Order: sequence, then structure tokens, then C-alpha cells
Amino acid sequence: MEPATRSVGEAKEQADGRLAGKVAVITGGASGMGRATVERFLDEGASVVIGDLNADAGHAFMAELNQAGCGERARFSRTDVAVEDDVAAMTELAVEAFGRLDVVFNNAGIGGAFGPITELDVDAWDETFAILVRSVMLGTKHAARHMIPQGSGGSIINTASIAGVGGGAGPQAYSAAKAAVISLAQTTAVELAPHRIRVNAICPGLIFTPLMHSGNEAQAEEVMRETQPWPGRGEGADIASAALFLASDDGQFVSGQQLVVDGAMLAAGPRIHGRMHNTRNLHRTAGMAYGTTGKAATVRRL
Ligand code: NAI
Repeated sequence: MEPATRSVGEAKEQADGRLAGKVAVITGGASGMGRATVERFLDEGASVVIGDLNADAGHAFMAELNQAGCGERARFSRTDVAVEDDVAAMTELAVEAFGRLDVVFNNAGIGGAFGPITELDVDAWDETFAILVRSVMLGTKHAARHMIPQGSGGSIINTASIAGVGGGAGPQAYSAAKAAVISLAQTTAVELAPHRIRVNAICPGLIFTPLMHSGNEAQAEEVMRETQPWPGRGEGADIASAALFLASDDGQFVSGQQLVVDGAMLAAGPRIHGRMHNTRNLHRTAGMAYGTTGKAATVRRL
């Protein structure tokens, strides 16, 4: 398995990589699995636009990339993926800076609305859908607007979740939103196939990122041990490997699929709900969690 963070840009010369000459946009690229994918794609020769709401994390990451000597193939775009003008500017930046657009990884996300269904706040539900679903629609729309006239195909990858495949793996709004992300990958894969643009969803299980452990690593490890058949931790690098396959020519006949990357958790029937930090106090609190965006969660005691 690839380590979560590695010395970016050292592993291969740009010309030898599996993404040599390709240009990618990766949202949520300042943390977790998005960040791991930025590192992997740079290693494989791509140029990358990192889109993220968290500008502090984005600029800090860019400083690291500059230090590692591959900053010239990376740009940071402070982007709210739920806002169309931001998404349009982010994809435009890829073309302005690097001349084309081949891959868009719609990956940014948050935990979103939590609490019992009887207490679910409509605004929190809508905001969750804007950040998790509207974002993917916008990312796909603006990717296709560049890729179709380019005439050389492309790969769009959406981060869904095993929570989008069935119950037991996440709160209601999050799970329903991730199911919509899978559906959007299927419908747009059909629509864009004549242009040789592939669209797929990755469904991670428990992946050890700041969103998943929320600062409580010991509790997260315990839940993982109790619920996941595979003995090792899922890391951002595991999702980066799946994204690399879908982005590269190795995946050239794969479209409209859900690639589950979960250490056999879905096969065993996920029983995470009620154990993770955002569902542990299911009947005592409700609110909205903004993940690692830098925005504080709202919490209502019931
Ligand atoms: P993370 O919190 O480490 O990284 C997510 C990044 O997305 C952060 O940098 C955050 O600032 C950014 N972001 C959030 N809202 C944004 C917005 N509106 N606009 C732009 N950027 C925004 O989380 P992680 O775990 O890497 O999550 C990535 C994706 O994977 C998310 O879509 C999440 O729902 C999904 N996922 C995560 C799982 C896990 O176990 N970690 C499991 C299944 C799915």
C-alpha cells in the first residue's frame, strides 16, 4: 500500500507517469483522500488544480508542494463546490494554467446534517445536499463543458460512499446525498459516453482522514476494528489508487460504475451508524457538521 504522504514528485519523472501530460481538478484536495490523490496524481505526471473551501489548508499544502519542487504543476483555487461561479472559475483555472482539462475528481465533502429524523432541520438537509450533490452536478457540468469541445475524452470521478448503497453507514441526509451522487455518475456516464468521457463513483468505507476520526483517533480505530473485516486501516492513499485507475487509460472502458474501496465492510453489512462521532449521540443532539472546512458545527441539544 502507498503511504498516506510521500515525497511528492520524486517517485517518477513527469514523462514516465501514468497521467503524464494530463490535467486534473481535485476538489477537497487540501485534506484527507483529496490531498492523497493530489500527491499521487503529481507523482504520476499530472498537473493539478486543488479546489477547496479551506484556504489556510490549501495555501499550506501549496507551500509544501513548492518545497518538494513540484509546485509549478499545481495551483490552489479557493472554491466552494456548492457555488456555480466558484466551480466554473476552478475548472477555468485548469485550462488557463495548464492548457486543457482531462480529469475532474468531485471529492469535497462534509458530514452534514445529523440527529434523529424527527428533529431533522430542513435548512441543514438542503445545505447537505448543496455541498454533497449540487457540487457534483456543477463539477460534472463544468468538466463536460471543457472536455466535450476538446474532443479527447476525459474522466470524471465522484466520491460517493458505502453510505449511499444501503443503511447502517451514515446519517439520513448524508446517505441519501451519496446515493444521489452514485445515480448522477450513472446518468451522466450514459450521456457523456459518445464523447468518450467516463464518469464513475468511488464508494469508500471507513478511511482514516480528519473527517472520519474528527480528532478522536482511538475511538475511530475501535469502530474500525469492530466493524471492518480487513485488519488494516483504510487510508487516503487507497482512494488515491482507485482514483488513479479510473483517471488513467487503464480504466478506459470503465464507466457508470461504483468502485467500492472498503476492506470488505459492505460485504459484511456496515454497522457504523450510532458508533461514529456524528451519530453517537443520535437521540440527544441534532445539527450540522461542516467537516474540516474550518466552519464550526452547529449543535442543538434535544
Ligand atoms: P476531509 O475532511 O479530510 O477532506 C475534505 C475536504 O473537503 C476538506 O479539505 C474540506 O475543506 C473540503 N470541503 C468541504 N466542503 C467543501 C466545500 N463546500 N467546498 C470546497 N471544499 C470543501 O475528508 P475526507 O474523508 O477526505 O472526505 C473526502 C470525501 O470522501 C467526502 O466527500 C466524504 O464524504 C467522502 N467519504 C469519506 C469517508 C471516510 O471514511 N473518510 C467515507 C466515505 C466517503
